Amino acid sequence: MMIKKIISAYFILNFSFFISLKADEGMWLPLLLKQLNESDMKKNGLKLSAEDIYSINKTCLKDAIVQFNGGCTAEVISDKGLILTNHHCGYSQIQAHSSVENDLLTNGFWAMNQKEELSNEGVTAMFIIRMEDVTLKILTGVSDTMSDVNRDKKINENITVLQKEAVVGTHYGAFIRPFFYGNEYYMFITETFKDVRLVGAPPSSIGKFGSDTDNWMWPQHKGDFSLFRIYADKNNEPANYSPDNVPYKPKYHLTVNMKGVKKDDFTMVYGFPGRTSEYLTSYAVDMIMNESDPAKVKIRDARLAIMDADMKSSDLVRIQYSAKYASLANYYKKWQGEINGLKKLKAIDKKRLFEQDFISKAKSDTLANAQYGKLFNEFEKKYKQYSVLNKQRDYFMESILGIEAVGYAFSFTDVIDALTNGKKQEDIQKDIDKLKVAAKVFFKNYNVSTDQKECATLLKIYSTDIVKSMQASVFIDIEKVFKNDFKKYADSVYSKSIFVSENRIIESLDNIGENYLKIKNDPIFQLMQSCYSKFAKDVRPQYNALDDEIARLNRIYMKGMRELITTKKYYPDANSTLRLTYGKVNGYHPRDGVFYDYYTTLDGLMEKENPLSDEFIVSPKLKELYLKKDYGPYADKNGELRIAFCASNHTTGGNSGSPVLNAKGELIGTNFDRDWEGTMSDIMYDPNQVRNIVLDVRYTLFVIDKYAGAGYLLNEMTLVK
Ligand code: ARG
Ligand code: GLU
Repeated sequence: MMIKKIISAYFILNFSFFISLKADEGMWLPLLLKQLNESDMKKNGLKLSAEDIYSINKTCLKDAIVQFNGGCTAEVISDKGLILTNHHCGYSQIQAHSSVENDLLTNGFWAMNQKEELSNEGVTAMFIIRMEDVTLKILTGVSDTMSDVNRDKKINENITVLQKEAVVGTHYGAFIRPFFYGNEYYMFITETFKDVRLVGAPPSSIGKFGSDTDNWMWPQHKGDFSLFRIYADKNNEPANYSPDNVPYKPKYHLTVNMKGVKKDDFTMVYGFPGRTSEYLTSYAVDMIMNESDPAKVKIRDARLAIMDADMKSSDLVRIQYSAKYASLANYYKKWQGEINGLKKLKAIDKKRLFEQDFISKAKSDTLANAQYGKLFNEFEKKYKQYSVLNKQRDYFMESILGIEAVGYAFSFTDVIDALTNGKKQEDIQKDIDKLKVAAKVFFKNYNVSTDQKECATLLKIYSTDIVKSMQASVFIDIEKVFKNDFKKYADSVYSKSIFVSENRIIESLDNIGENYLKIKNDPIFQLMQSCYSKFAKDVRPQYNALDDEIARLNRIYMKGMRELITTKKYYPDANSTLRLTYGKVNGYHPRDGVFYDYYTTLDGLMEKENPLSDEFIVSPKLKELYLKKDYGPYADKNGELRIAFCASNHTTGGNSGSPVLNAKGELIGTNFDRDWEGTMSDIMYDPNQVRNIVLDVRYTLFVIDKYAGAGYLLNEMTLVK
């Protein structure tokens, strides 16, 4: 009876685990689509060939896909270099052009011609020219018996040589990344544009409607898009900003399909997913869901509450902290969803069963046993040590470095060290000038009193949760002098420090050659140094060493999985390289008795309107269009104006802004979020719960044309009605 129970539990869990590896799961490498996915995709509705999606012989969809500023995705939608991404992806740029007098966050921005477009220092748009499997070349000279240090050294040498060789004499870049935990390597040849201008952004009441309350949730009603344009030099090649630059002529731009989607339509998402960890062991999942995620949530909860209160009481602080707040709030919420999702999936149990299967397969074969038989004993041992250090590291990153002035003081370390070691001010004037420029940037978005409150709170959390022996010496002083009254400590420190005042900093920098001792004794510099040196001595080296050892175990485990468990189609974890995922338009059952439909409408947005909450304000202009039902050609057949839809594509952070394409490769929407019940898909995917959230391209066009009166932009696009 007992045995039968165990077997059937094993079967059900394991079976569902395998099922979950089929439908819609996977972030696939474009150059392997032909081999791995084409027939499955066609079965599911794709009308294109793999070559239409990725090819090195002809122009293809790939040529319209851009990595936007290193973190998001964007797509080319006109032959004049116009690119579409999310509002939240362009948020920092929109914020940077904003002031209390000219608040583009609140009001939106629309260039009415190319001259009015706004340049953005440092923003990049990267295309992939081609990709290549370079595993054999990278692993040349590497053997199984080599030490890890030598292995890494050899691999890095090979990478450096190959990356350089690949692009000599061109204006291209190249990077090589490990896949499957270093069992494979791929090289990417890139072309990166550096003059990327802001063309249009809706007001936050549209682009960020529902803000953090709706973030990571379905149903959602954000018009989460912004428009930029890539500029090139006269040869259509990348160049730094210049008024002489001209709109980039792309190899390919996406056709925009205005027909809308229906349930079960085939969709695919082409973009740059950042990071997933689908092949972790049960030990790692345990650490993440039971220790690391909860700790980070707790710390951010405290920070966000302080920021939120201050932002609500001052417009200046609201603008200063909007981008910082949004970025902290985003993962704060995601981790909570992830914990819930992993629990609901019984992720640890599923992983354990999978591991038992792996171990028993390994044990039944002499060769496999020699390679993998002891693997899990090692994992267990390492994770015991690792989780302790991981906690120290999380707390250092989230709470100590969460104090803005501390992070800022850290940027002075090199200059202070140089002066301490006898360098003259004129020897390092360049670095000092850089600090002056950085001071402007830092203080533009800095509010002392917010940071001071954060400092008191964060230090208190740190001192309560971290064992005494691992605390920096500064905590002993705080106990002695301030009786652990962290508020008193922060008040004292912030009233004296130069690091909280732009004037004091600029003054000190002007003759830092004489002032450096004073800076060294500055209470915030001291706080930073005390915490940092403890971290650098007692946490980081040990953490890094274990990290390397675990990386080695993961490499071996990954190899073993692919050898021993062959019922499964493996895809590499996301690593900010170009991937394609595909799925279907569909709603889902988030919990017992509840079903969510696959699309949302402007009527639904109006239902959420709440003039008392700054997250749910509807602008008079949008309301007017709604009341008149003035939706132009952007309404659905039944007269509704759809805003968003959801589908079962496997996406993650970095996929924001990615084009969502129909079976013919036409643009039907822009990816911008994932559902709450599916946020655990970075660690374990569940086809019943995971949905990507997509802005319907018709709402984008509606906002550009009807709301903003920037319909001239549509003339650049190729529209299918
Ligand atoms: N959750 C989405 C993504 O991960 C949107 C983030 C926008 N930020 C925010 N705090 N609302 O990027
Ligand atoms: N909003 C995410 C991003 O910025 C995409 C949502 C997800 O993580 O799936 O990339």
